[in-house]
Amino acid sequence: MRILLTGKNGQVGSALLGTLPPLGELIAPDRTQLDLAHPDSIAAALRDVRPHVIVNAAAYTAVDQAEKEEPLAFRVNRDAPAVLAEEAKKLGALLVHFSTDYVFDGEKPSPYVESDTPNPLNAYGRSKLAGEQAIQASGCRHLIFRTSWVYAARGKNFVLTMLRLARDGKPLRVVDDQWGAPTSASMIARAVPHAVERIAADESLMGLYHMTAGGSTTWCRFARTIVGENVTAISSDAYPTAARRPPYSVLDNGKLNVRLNIRLPPWEEGLKEVLKT
Ligand SMILES: NC(=O)c1ccc[n+]([C@@H]2O[C@H](COP(=O)([O-])OP(=O)(O)OC[C@H]3O[C@@H](n4cnc5c(N)ncnc54)[C@H](OP(=O)(O)O)[C@@H]3O)[C@@H](O)[C@H]2O)c1
Repeated sequence: MRILLTGKNGQVGSALLGTLPPLGELIAPDRTQLDLAHPDSIAAALRDVRPHVIVNAAAYTAVDQAEKEEPLAFRVNRDAPAVLAEEAKKLGALLVHFSTDYVFDGEKPSPYVESDTPNPLNAYGRSKLAGEQAIQASGCRHLIFRTSWVYAARGKNFVLTMLRLARDGKPLRVVDDQWGAPTSASMIARAVPHAVERIAADESLMGLYHMTAGGSTTWCRFARTIVGENVTAISSDAYPTAARRPPYSVLDNGKLNVRLNIRLPPWEEGLKEVLKT
């Protein structure tokens, strides 16, 4: 099996570099070799490689910056996946793609299921939702995993930011009114090969899945688990950001558990693993 992976230097992409090789030959162009901001260059690259599986871990992920760069966010998060999907369809390849809890507005008081109506509050969420919809509309073989609050031992993420601020002796004030499930990139990367194997055995399992670590927390409680109790709880109003975020974006993983037989561990376990490295 030939697998093309995008986003190899990102949090999820670099974790996938370690988990995909047992499935087959892995080809992983970086941004300089395959720039998703230029979707017209993608088709030729895919036709050269002729992958059986395309894993798209690349994305425009700067949530606040996207408010100012919405056209670029849409090129990378909607137009590029649309071309990947079109080419996957022509090649008969399986497209594995990632999306976000930020497709929801956070008004639901209980975990979101896949059939809940999305209503993104920000440009990033709109661009990611448009990407999902383009893939679904293409009719290609696909798996879309919506995940949330991703972190890893490398990259730009909340865990590393909290550790740095604490080390610098900075006072920590963190929002305590947004709920979600912090999910480690390695947990996601370990689940993907299982999912691909399940699809190889049963094509009817393709589709959209929520995939997050178990449990839920707030950013403030997450910060206290990372650096200790010396973190002041504040409200989102006291920490204005360019992009609005949903107050509650916990995803229900029931479909993933039942249909793909995949259950990610509780978020605390993923954090322990990252803090050890
Ligand atoms: N991070 C989160 O909290 C979060 C939450 C929910 C869902 N997700 C989704 O999970 C997936 C993986 O996210 P992540 O956290 O691993 O993201 P990440 O660490 O920000 O990595 C994104 C990757 O995409 C690449 N990329 C960006 N623009 C590109 C372009 N124009 N052409 C080619 N490559 C480009 C980056 O390349 P460079 O290394 O060259 O910059 C990087 O390797 C994404 O679909 C994201 O939307 C993430």
